[in-house]
Amino acid sequence: MKKNLIDIRDFSIAEVDRLISLAKDIIAHGERYASACHGKKLATLFFEPSTRTRLSFESAMMELGGNVIGFSSASSSSASKGESVADTAQVISCFADIIAMRHPKEGAPMVASLNASIPVINAGDGGHNHPTQTLTDLLTISRQKGRLNNMVVGCCGDLKYGRTVHSLVSAMSRYEGVKFVFIAPDELRMPVGLRKELDEAGVPYVETTSLEEVLPELDVLYMTRVQQERFADVEQYNRLKDSYILNTDKLAHAKADMIIMHPLPRVNEISVAVDKDPRACYFQQVLNGKFIRMALILTLLGLAPEVADSDVIGDDVARYEEAVVNAKEHGFHCASGRCITSVEQELPQAFFKTENGYRCIYCDRKPE
Ligand code: CP
Repeated sequence: MKKNLIDIRDFSIAEVDRLISLAKDIIAHGERYASACHGKKLATLFFEPSTRTRLSFESAMMELGGNVIGFSSASSSSASKGESVADTAQVISCFADIIAMRHPKEGAPMVASLNASIPVINAGDGGHNHPTQTLTDLLTISRQKGRLNNMVVGCCGDLKYGRTVHSLVSAMSRYEGVKFVFIAPDELRMPVGLRKELDEAGVPYVETTSLEEVLPELDVLYMTRVQQERFADVEQYNRLKDSYILNTDKLAHAKADMIIMHPLPRVNEISVAVDKDPRACYFQQVLNGKFIRMALILTLLGLAPEVADSDVIGDDVARYEEAVVNAKEHGFHCASGRCITSVEQELPQAFFKTENGYRCIYCDRKPE
């Protein structure tokens, strides 16, 4: 069965751990992997801007001895002429062996995965998910702290639209002894759906608007940018953009072994003086992104030894077909303007069942 990575939970904890082990082996013995993807092509389909994700994917494939094709904006692809994500995915399947896709609409990479005959990796879909950033973050925490369990993780900034924190919380909530501290203005709180998931799973978390109050108890501080591109209201963005600025004075109250992470790009939320603090590891995080993406490409192409006994990835197509039937039976419709169905209206409505009712399979929102 073809393997994709659309949501971090497509991979079990055991599989994530295997990816991290493989990335560490690549770091230690890069030369062993230099021709591992000889003759293979990665297509990077970026409908939204990126520096780190796109270039780290491309760099990862090159260091594995493979080649790269792709585009870096919707305007330089036939999407600008109205081509659908589904058709794009089928077309690219004729040219490449694996796809990494970023798209501003939630669920677009999932639509691609259902229509491509090659593996599809979600490289960020709107404010929804960013699973390869999460793999990067997990590798960074594992390398810096030596563990992924028993720690207090603070997430600070734009927790409403920050796809990186959504995927990180989803992933880290599966490890024992992890407690979250969500630090955000009221307008940018962690989405209620994600908080409910934590409640149901019995994962402890607290919410606060004060970074200073909670800083001393954190083992990991994950800063995020307030994302201008997700705001419809510019005044609201201007009011919230500088809600949190980490500087050296504030850091004086943090643990000596706390690590400071940021998916980048940063704007104002971490002052440049903090870069010299040994606890700052956001540029190390960028480098880790290349290594974990090398591990992921190898794994999804079936070229990693770990893949042989992989139990990953359920039957995505069967789940999707059931979700389409659910939508028809109940007359469900997704009203979110952020969902891929808002621009590609020929896509079938599709809703999967959760313990809390039905959710859109593309963007995870409730039906109307
Ligand atoms: N962290 C991240 O996704 O960065 P880019 O937007 O530059 O890819």
